[in-house]
Parts: sequence; C-alpha cells; structure tokens
Amino acid sequence: MKPLSKGLKKILGFTVLITIISIGYYFYALLLYPPVEERETVLYKLGEGFGEIGLWLLLFIYSRTLIKLLLGKGAISKRILPEYSPPVDARLFGGLIHFLDRTHVYFGIATIAIIVLHIALVGLPMHILFFPAVLILVIWQGVFGMFISWRYSPKELEKFAYLVHAQLFTGVMIGIFAYFGHILIDD
Ligand code: HEM
Repeated sequence: MKPLSKGLKKILGFTVLITIISIGYYFYALLLYPPVEERETVLYKLGEGFGEIGLWLLLFIYSRTLIKLLLGKGAISKRILPEYSPPVDARLFGGLIHFLDRTHVYFGIATIAIIVLHIALVGLPMHILFFPAVLILVIWQGVFGMFISWRYSPKELEKFAYLVHAQLFTGVMIGIFAYFGHILIDD
C-alpha cells in the first residue's frame, strides 16, 4: 500500500485532534450548563428549517471538493493527493466541475446567509463555545472567499485568502463543532 501523502496525513491528524478536544469539551459543557430550552414558536421552527437547509448546502459545497479530490482535479487535489491517479477520466466530468466552480460563489454566499438566518431565529447559546466558533468559521470562509473573488484584492491578500479559504481545516471544525453542539442541546 502507498504511504499517505503529507497533506492527507495533516488533515486526518487534525480531524482526530479536533474530535478528541470536542468530546472533552462536550462532557465539560454537559456537566456545567443546564439544557438549552427549545421554543415552540413559528419563528423557531422556521429557524430549524433553515438549519437543515444550511447543512445540505454545506454538504453540497464540500461534495464539490470531494469530487475534485476523487477526480484528481484542481489545486486542492494536487496538494492533498499529489500521487493519486483517478480511476476514471476527469474530462468526462468536465461539465459538472465547471458548473460547480462557476456557481460556488453563489452557493457559498447563500450558505452563509442561511446559516446566519438559522442562528438569528433559533438563538446563539454563546456560553457553549461550539456555536460562536461555528459562526466565526462560517463568516471566515465567506470573508476570505470574497477576497479571493474580488478583483481589486491586492495580490498578497488574494494569495493569503486562497491559502486560508481553499482548504479543509475549517470544514472539519465546522462539521465537528456543529455536530457536538447540536447533540449537546438535543439531549
Ligand atoms: C460556507 C461557505 C463556503 C465554504 C464552506 C467554502 C469552501 C471552499 C473550499 C473547500 C474551497 C477549495 C476546494 C474546492 O475547490 O472545492 C473553496 C474554493 C473557493 N471558494 Fe469557497 N467556500 C465558501 C464560500 C465562498 C464564498 C462566499 C466565496 C466568494 C464570494 C468563495 C469563493 C471561492 C473561490 C474563489 C475558491 C477558489 C477557486 C475554486 O476552487 O473555485 N467561497 N471554497
């Protein structure tokens, strides 16, 4: 078997580390804080609906990255899986990748808007650090995504924005923090 690439090892190691820290904090918060009350209002229910849409949008965004990784396309796959050769010809999926790349900015903005709406309607339990962390990370993705796309961004800023936006570390944190945050309050 081929050894794992450095990029893949980093992201897997990071995922394990974040999971361990989150499990620790989950039990800490479970012992320390009383359960968060669910409200039965229409706005709260609507907010829950937005949360579900936000989850699907995030899955959609990261499935684009996964498709690129599986097909060995784009800078991200060169970085994470440099030695990998895909079992199918990536050109067969050129149209799909082109569509996903062209629409990413719009789906990105929609995702952030929906998640912010979700938080605004259901409320943000600031004392459970998973939630403010997810909010900051989602806004982080949006701000740096905009700096990559904005044509007046200075070259250095664009490079930095690409470095911190087009990677999977924030995605891992968003996924794990949101998961543990939600099981904590669904208890
Ligand atoms: C929650 C929101 C977002 C997430 C999770 C996200 C995630 C990602 C990821 C993982 C990549 C690199 C891998 C890939 O190509 O798939 C990427 C690339 C990129 N994103 Fe985002 N993004 C978001 C929002 C945005 C927004 C709002 C913009 C612009 C206004 C944006 C602009 C870009 C650009 C220009 C690239 C690099 C070029 C490309 O690969 O298409 N993103 N994004």
